[in-house]
Amino acid sequence: MSRLNRTDRPYDIVLFGATGFVGTLTAEYLAAHAPEGLRWAIAGRSEEKLRALRERLPGGEEIGVLHADVSDPASLRELSEHARVVATTVGPYVTYGEELVAACAETGADYLDLTGEPEFVDLMYVRHDARARETGARLVHACGFDSIPHDLGAYFTVRQLPEGVPLRVDGFVTADATFSGGTFASALNQFARGRQMIAAARERGRHEPRLVGRRASAPTGAPRYAQEVGAWALPLPTIDAQIVQRSAKALKRYGPDFRYRHYAAVRHLPVAVGGVAAVGALFAAAQLPPARRWLSDRLKPGDGPDADKRAKSWFSVRFVGEGGGRQVFTEVAGGDPGYDETAKMFAESALSLALDELPPTAGQVTTAVAMGDALIERLRRAGITFRVAASR
Ligand SMILES: NC(=O)c1ccc[n+]([C@@H]2O[C@H](COP(=O)([O-])OP(=O)(O)OC[C@H]3O[C@@H](n4cnc5c(N)ncnc54)[C@H](OP(=O)(O)O)[C@@H]3O)[C@@H](O)[C@H]2O)c1
Repeated sequence: MSRLNRTDRPYDIVLFGATGFVGTLTAEYLAAHAPEGLRWAIAGRSEEKLRALRERLPGGEEIGVLHADVSDPASLRELSEHARVVATTVGPYVTYGEELVAACAETGADYLDLTGEPEFVDLMYVRHDARARETGARLVHACGFDSIPHDLGAYFTVRQLPEGVPLRVDGFVTADATFSGGTFASALNQFARGRQMIAAARERGRHEPRLVGRRASAPTGAPRYAQEVGAWALPLPTIDAQIVQRSAKALKRYGPDFRYRHYAAVRHLPVAVGGVAAVGALFAAAQLPPARRWLSDRLKPGDGPDADKRAKSWFSVRFVGEGGGRQVFTEVAGGDPGYDETAKMFAESALSLALDELPPTAGQVTTAVAMGDALIERLRRAGITFRVAASR
């Protein structure tokens, strides 16, 4: 039976936080691209905003509206019971996210989000992975620019290399884009929680089974001039490398000894130095509550780059993979990474979980493990490039 015809719950997909910046873009994408017969709903805390959004969406009369608030766990439980797949944009996730993960793990609904917060992902693993495995719920974090191009790009690169041998993959990110109030709030929040992040990672380490007979690592590389891509490579301390490492732990295809390093690629040295200084200054300011408040007032929740600015934005992640005597150069590329493409990746991930025949998985899983080839195919059809640039 096609997954679309399984009518055990009223909706195939429920989009929670549909009225926010990325939520609205995701709702617009789903309204334009959902296959006929998809039963889906928008959800959030303001019925008035939800109804106004539904009126603007093509085919809006077919789209359900559900009321739920993160401060009301019963409403989240009800929401998860109504959906086969729950996609949430309500962040910062470390502040607002846990109750919905708990509800999905308990009721067996698939869950996906846009978090880039390692602390959140680690805590959700410790607290909800076991229950989700029992109920069959797939908990898939980081289904936006964090971390789909990197996770699926590394997976795609590995698939071009020989099987059963040690593999080395480096990813180099280049982008020209700006961010929204929601993303800015999440980043500031994360910068201020370094100690909690380390504690959560340690706790995860105590719970996670050790990999036996294979190795999968994601060390922080050193800054260097990377001849292979003709740019300065700066180690990127985002969640992406951890996600790639988790995919490598879960999938034997990554070989007996896999190593991934994640970098920002910058053409000119002064830009590289300026970028590091700017992030350092933001990090320092985020440690002081008054400076953090001042900064978060600069960009409000719901704000974000307009359509013109987004149309000029782009990203490219180049990968260099080596193993078994072969070297391969691949690329994942697209338009505005933070919003247009994030909404596309997020919506296509939700559609994939709801509709595609996927490997049987449950519990906390990465995008490569849960959806791999099916999601790459979807994203290609939706205009995101996955290509082999050269191999030897
Ligand atoms: N992974 C990536 O690459 C990526 C890219 C972009 C964004 N993000 C993340 O996605 C998240 C959303 O970003 P954004 O720019 O869309 O933020 P936003 O515009 O501030 O939207 C946040 C949403 O959360 C809802 N919300 C807030 N409090 C709520 C509550 N108590 N109950 C129910 N809903 C509540 C808001 O509802 P109202 O509309 O009623 O206020 C809104 O729909 C952020 O965490 C951001 O970091 C990740």
